[in-house]
Amino acid sequence: MTLAPWRTPLARALHRNRALVYSRYAQLATVDPQGRPHNRTIVFRGFAGETNTLEFITDQRSEKVAHLHHQPWGELCWYFPQTREQFRLAGLLQIIDELHPDPQAQKARLHRWQSLSDSGRQPFTWPHPGQPRTGDLPAAPPDPLTPPVHFCLLWLAPQQVDHLELRGNPQNRYCYRQDDRGIWTVQAVNP
Ligand SMILES: Cc1cc2nc3c(=O)[nH]c(=O)nc-3n(C[C@H](O)[C@H](O)[C@H](O)COP(=O)(O)O)c2cc1C
Repeated sequence: MTLAPWRTPLARALHRNRALVYSRYAQLATVDPQGRPHNRTIVFRGFAGETNTLEFITDQRSEKVAHLHHQPWGELCWYFPQTREQFRLAGLLQIIDELHPDPQAQKARLHRWQSLSDSGRQPFTWPHPGQPRTGDLPAAPPDPLTPPVHFCLLWLAPQQVDHLELRGNPQNRYCYRQDDRGIWTVQAVNP
């Protein structure tokens, strides 16, 4: 698997912004069955193995998962404050839930669960997200070895990446696109 060309500027941005914990937070947009956009903050967890696929975790009961079952296309918008650059990564999102048939994907799901802190695992013991709150949330930490049924990975395989650098005069903007054969091209465009 060859690295997509946008991996180099993204790796550079991650490195140069590494002191800012929130530089790993990005906004993921999905579309609901009525065609309305929804956007929320999500933590970038890394790349799925040796691929160009970005990995996130989420609760299988959350609305974004229902949106993705209906429309798997999403877009991540990611701003790096230290270097003042934005990446917009658009592509198909795959949901790796308990029933996903691929053993490699299940292995990744298991490893990701085991690598989380107790506080990172905690929300997966809570009642259905988004439903009315009727009492205290469970405080006991979940089993660190076995992912609960609600725990899933999201894998975003970008097909278009728009990179905007605000720094510099003039600014720079690059559009990366993947064709049907999986070949990436890059075009400098006006900011
Ligand atoms: C800093 C920050 C990080 C977050 N990280 C995640 C995350 O990694 N995964 C996730 O599903 N939700 C995360 N959330 C919560 C989401 O933004 C959102 O509230 C939740 O996933 C429900 O979204 P939905 O109803 O659109 O599915 C985070 C929120 C904040 C403020």
